[in-house]
Amino acid sequence: PVVPVLLSGGSGTRLWPVSRKSFPKQFAPLVGHESLFQASARRLSGARYAAPLILTGADFRFIVTEQLADIGVAPAGVLIEPAARNTAPAVLAAALHLARSDPDTLILVAPSDHVVPDDEAFGRAVDQGVPLAQAGRIVTFGIQPTRPETGYGWLELSDDSAGPAPLRRFVEKPDAATAEAMLRDGRFLWNAGIFLFTARTIIQAFRTHAPDFIPPVEAALDGATRDLGFTRLAAEPWQALPDLSIDYAVMEKADNLSVVRFADHWSDLGGWDAIWREAQVDKPAWRGVVADLRSTAIDCDNVLLRSDDEGMQVVGIGLKDTMVVATGDAVLVADMTRAQDVRQAVSALKSRG
Ligand code: GDD
Ligand code: MG
Repeated sequence: PVVPVLLSGGSGTRLWPVSRKSFPKQFAPLVGHESLFQASARRLSGARYAAPLILTGADFRFIVTEQLADIGVAPAGVLIEPAARNTAPAVLAAALHLARSDPDTLILVAPSDHVVPDDEAFGRAVDQGVPLAQAGRIVTFGIQPTRPETGYGWLELSDDSAGPAPLRRFVEKPDAATAEAMLRDGRFLWNAGIFLFTARTIIQAFRTHAPDFIPPVEAALDGATRDLGFTRLAAEPWQALPDLSIDYAVMEKADNLSVVRFADHWSDLGGWDAIWREAQVDKPAWRGVVADLRSTAIDCDNVLLRSDDEGMQVVGIGLKDTMVVATGDAVLVADMTRAQDVRQAVSALKSRG
């Protein structure tokens, strides 16, 4: 079976004010009643999968265990990162940890900020990837692109149809012009951010492309302490690690990437514009208006009106291309095209204290 490694240590600042430092987006019920983290854990349970390994920060450890208990999933372990250092160190820690019992362990790295409604269709894509991973490939999952998205990684398909759907190139978060060109070119897919490989393969890839990560991550595992069933990585070596995603550290450089196409619905809920778009997939919105039960839109086009506070009503009149998200102590009002800039607002608020 495949061991799911669930990454849930991100801070989700682009979904402020619902996503907060102490309660980031992956744990909030953003769409439906489950959190995205719970939906991911549920998706990766069942006959194909072993119990998941969770990687998260100390602040979220009890949220993780409570939310898993809620859906009846018992984790194989919860590794606590002493500081957020992005996904490269987290993935390496998981691989080195699992390799200690079996270096041929099949690992499915999955983020916890995604919407993938058809769990079974996703499972079939994983099945297709398993023999590739067993043959030493790093398997990516490719989504048909629909817009020149700069927030994703892009996968360039090789013309060479022999061999296991090899990839020519991995381009992480291109600039707008490059994204436009790749969309027009037609030989590119979006990287779903989900990876399948054996522990051995990914450790070897780190050895080749990012060797400096290995000693500190090994040291953090060697010095780890157990507490209440959590495995706390040692702080000192961990803090010395650079903050880098696996996409930049390994994927852009590796030459043994393969891709399995995933044709079903997939979405990364990276910002409020994605939440707005997602709400229209279920139920096509009239004039693009997505308003919840506590909100009223009069004469609006392409707006998201949302209140996450019971006492707060949101009313929009004559608005266009605008998002309004209200919670008990904060209200976000922004142009729909500026969804990515919410991150900047959060930094500004932080520096004001
Ligand atoms: N444990 C842990 N520790 N998890 C982390 C950390 C960390 O330090 N940093 C981020 N994560 C988690 C996030 O919670 C999320 O579930 C996942 O790792 C991916 O991080 P994002 O920050 O959401 O990445 P992204 O969306 O910008 O980019 C990635 O996903 C895209 C598709 O959704 C890349 O893989 C892109 O290439 C890809 O297209
Ligand atoms: Mg993401």
